Amino acid sequence: MTNFISVNDVDNINALVQQALKYKADPYADKQLGAGKRIGLLFLNPSLRTRLSTQVAASNLGMEAIVFNIDKEGWALEFAEGAIMNGTTVEHIKDAAPVLGQYFDILCVRTFPALQNRSADYAETVISQFIKYAGVPIVSLESATLHPLQSLADIITIQENRVLVSPPAGGGRGCKIVLTWAPHVKALPQCVANSFAQWVGGWNETNFVITQPEGYELDEAFTKNATIITNQDEALQNADYVYVKNWSSYKDYGKIITGNTDWMLTNKKLALTNDAKVMHCLPVRRNVELSDEILDGNNSLVTQQAGNRVWAAQAVLASILTPIP
Ligand code: CP
Repeated sequence: MTNFISVNDVDNINALVQQALKYKADPYADKQLGAGKRIGLLFLNPSLRTRLSTQVAASNLGMEAIVFNIDKEGWALEFAEGAIMNGTTVEHIKDAAPVLGQYFDILCVRTFPALQNRSADYAETVISQFIKYAGVPIVSLESATLHPLQSLADIITIQENRVLVSPPAGGGRGCKIVLTWAPHVKALPQCVANSFAQWVGGWNETNFVITQPEGYELDEAFTKNATIITNQDEALQNADYVYVKNWSSYKDYGKIITGNTDWMLTNKKLALTNDAKVMHCLPVRRNVELSDEILDGNNSLVTQQAGNRVWAAQAVLASILTPIP
């Protein structure tokens, strides 16, 4: 693997999941793989899980990790080609990225979308310029449209529950996963939902349903392997996993459409499912996006899911560090 930006960088999802589960069973199995190598974690936006899980993963592989909150501690970066830099930006990505590439063997970048201009966000300008100019492998810690390390951890979590808790009776597609939109007070990116849809669609081992109110349809580029149902109760019927997430409108880009507060998952809604396990990437707004009774109940996988972020990151970093024969 050279870069890790989306599921398209992965040859075999199941093999990567199995590698992650091997690291979960034996975290230091490859403690020499990254010896003498340095990883830079660049944050243009806040993080708890992504930052710390990737640091732990790098440490398990023997790498030195340096975190740089570039939005607060670095010079303001310019990304526009041909910019006349007489405003607030101080350093062009064309100059900064090659320097960072001299300091690090792998660079990881978190960059959220501005949610103002759909074309600009979906062009993935920031992460693609790091790839173009850094000269070292780039790992997305969440970009304008995708969150691949999260999605890998999500599939690891489903896989370990599917195998250990509820193995598929008749083989085949095995279980039903429902991605449901949830209410929120802020306009959030579509990244987690896009990415989950892309990975589960690519994994192709489950019956996958997306449910959202009218107006919150995701970009069809990511949802082509999903069944879309706008009636949440209908979608939840017999679900084995319910992935809860808010996202702002893709169609009316970055906007919140008022109403829909009744889309928050409760125990009453969960009763429609096949005693489904409930997932969320965190952070979560309790009793807005997801109810206390679900988060504090036995069906919640959110802590396990966040824990699996370490093994997802470790499997990806190991794959980048492993020389191609
Ligand atoms: N899920 C996730 O990416 O969490 P952080 O924003 O805390 O990294």
